[in-house]
Amino acid sequence: MNLTVIGTGYVGLVSGTCFAEMGNTVTCIDIDKAKIESLKKGIIPIYEPGLEQMVKRNVENDTLRFSTDLSKHLDKCDIAFIAVGTPMGEDGSADLQYVLQVAKEIGENMSHPLIIVDKSTVPVGTADKVKEAIQSQLDNRDAKIQFNVVSNPEFLKEGDAISDFMKPDRVVIGSDDEEATEKMRTLYAPFFRSSLDRLITMDVRSAEMTKYVANAMLATKISFMNEVANICELVGADVNKVRIGIGSDSRIGYSFIYPGSGYGGSCFPKDVKALKKTAEENGYIPNLIKAVEDVNDKQKLVIANKVIAKYGEDLSGKVFAVWGLAFKPETDDMREAPAIYIIKELVKRGAKVQAYDPKAMEEAQHFYLKDMNDVSYHNSKYDVLQNADALILLTEWKEFRSPDFEELKKQLNKPIVFDGRNQYNHSRMLKNGFEYFQIGKK
Ligand code: UDX
Repeated sequence: MNLTVIGTGYVGLVSGTCFAEMGNTVTCIDIDKAKIESLKKGIIPIYEPGLEQMVKRNVENDTLRFSTDLSKHLDKCDIAFIAVGTPMGEDGSADLQYVLQVAKEIGENMSHPLIIVDKSTVPVGTADKVKEAIQSQLDNRDAKIQFNVVSNPEFLKEGDAISDFMKPDRVVIGSDDEEATEKMRTLYAPFFRSSLDRLITMDVRSAEMTKYVANAMLATKISFMNEVANICELVGADVNKVRIGIGSDSRIGYSFIYPGSGYGGSCFPKDVKALKKTAEENGYIPNLIKAVEDVNDKQKLVIANKVIAKYGEDLSGKVFAVWGLAFKPETDDMREAPAIYIIKELVKRGAKVQAYDPKAMEEAQHFYLKDMNDVSYHNSKYDVLQNADALILLTEWKEFRSPDFEELKKQLNKPIVFDGRNQYNHSRMLKNGFEYFQIGKK
């Protein structure tokens, strides 16, 4: 099929590239000229394992093209995906201005029947708004062209996006038109080798809701476990053991019950807020969803509080080495990362921070921790330890999983580790001469 993907952010770029890889001809559109020029050369603006090679390969094969001009590309296109950003507005709701602007442009330029797909995460009712925006432009130019707006939410995980797209757990298609549903099924069928059971079709509003509910449910599991971790510390239990104990029940399962420094990233914080807002706008008080958010906000500072409990409120003269800045491993994304909050809190109290992350240091330096003179950046996990009073681990990158503990002892002023991701065995650390602080075990 001939596809147009509008918006070359994370979702748009991954989706467009994977559709091209599966044999479609895809044009990715963005208003950012510099970005489009780099993409044409195969230079991608984000770190995502496997993506760069896939972009390059498809650009070379001419199955993946980039352009800044939407009007030129709708002519030959079967399906147009809207994958522009929906940033969080000031009141916590998703800001739809970019989505609706694209819808307007589609209405201005389309010349034949088209399926328009909402791929961006958008609140319930957005497909109707997109439909109205397109229709009003068609009416303006007196054009009678058939079109359908379909919801096809994205469930990609950063760091695993390629395999999530190429081998999806499920694809959700929300459409109120049978023909459009069939066309979407045809597009996605090659991604399901054995059975199409996991290609789930439903009405538009349910599909829009599915995305928010999936993310809110996962965020709920995490906040629940973080709360349990905090209680475990108080009663002398070990959350690592409790986690294994409950996960063995297949109804609960082991995934997404790892306690830590709170969830971050672009999706969970934003989608939980937006779902709360949607409920409130419809006259419902979402107590549980609110609590998920509150627990997470507090959880981000649990490790900072442990540092304060050890050294006191005033941290002047203290130096902390931080391992990990990204909100999770295998990404350079620092959106809503606990590291931002923890580092700011330590620096506010007079400490100096020496940071190391395999991928996210540029993001930190130029954006999230910009102009913070008390934060320095180092080239390796051992360099960053020199002259530090303690190590604070905030992202569970693989290279932090089994470090040379003797080297840690040698480099640090004292063998003290605050672990915001419970990466090491507690009793082994103590036996090895470390003072070791975890989440959910005293
Ligand atoms: C998430 C969803 O998983 C994905 O389906 C959706 O499309 C976008 O949002 P992502 O934000 O890339 O993906 O990250 P994910 O791997 O889900 O982790 C989210 C956050 O939860 C991270 O901060 C992670 O550290 C945290 N987390 C995850 C925990 O604290 N404990 C866990 O057990 C699992």
